[in-house]
Amino acid sequence: MSHKNFGAKAWLQPMPVGIIGTYDQNGRPNAMNAAWVGQWDMTQITISVSKHATTVNLLNNPDFTLALADRRNMVAADYVGIVSGNKVPDKVAKAGLNVERAEFVNAPVFTNFPITLECRLVQKIGEEVPGGGCNLIADILNVRCDEAYLDAAGNPDLDKIELICYDSIGNNYRVLGKVVGRAFHDGAALK
Ligand SMILES: Cc1cc2nc3c(=O)[nH]c(=O)nc-3n(C[C@H](O)[C@H](O)[C@H](O)COP(=O)(O)O)c2cc1C
Repeated sequence: MSHKNFGAKAWLQPMPVGIIGTYDQNGRPNAMNAAWVGQWDMTQITISVSKHATTVNLLNNPDFTLALADRRNMVAADYVGIVSGNKVPDKVAKAGLNVERAEFVNAPVFTNFPITLECRLVQKIGEEVPGGGCNLIADILNVRCDEAYLDAAGNPDLDKIELICYDSIGNNYRVLGKVVGRAFHDGAALK
């Protein structure tokens, strides 16, 4: 079978679109788009960050939030990924994000987004990576979800929420799709 090799690419799909919320040293909130995010353990995530205002905030204060970006807030999510708080001090207001202090960590929650993880940095992995960034591991202390987006069983309803993913092949945002099967279940048909 013929195929095409592309070499090393950041093409693991789907990539989440997370919005990191931090306070700077004066208590001013900042927001940053982060797609290089993954579940690390049951209650831990990993984030690869370059040198940004957010990175400095994170290294000064380990607490942050990670909102999962949804279709309704896609423009704001992209805006905080192309503008730096270093250059635009009122970036959060310009993005139209509403801020509330998190309950479990010392970090801002942007209530526009339906689901938010409240996290605390626990480890910086490896040496500095090219570009001056680093890889971070953080504990998830709490996950909160706007009650308007819960299903009948009381869990976040992904059909209602319409999370977006970052398509690093085409540089697009895509909506997380419909249910096509049941995990830990449908494979049993082949047992
Ligand atoms: C789709 C998308 C994904 C991004 N993912 C990351 C990421 O995972 N890590 C990172 O360091 N920067 C990432 N960025 C870049 C930052 O969001 C961007 O540089 C931002 O302006 C930094 O803001 P700050 O300086 O206010 O913290 C991403 C940007 C976009 C648009």
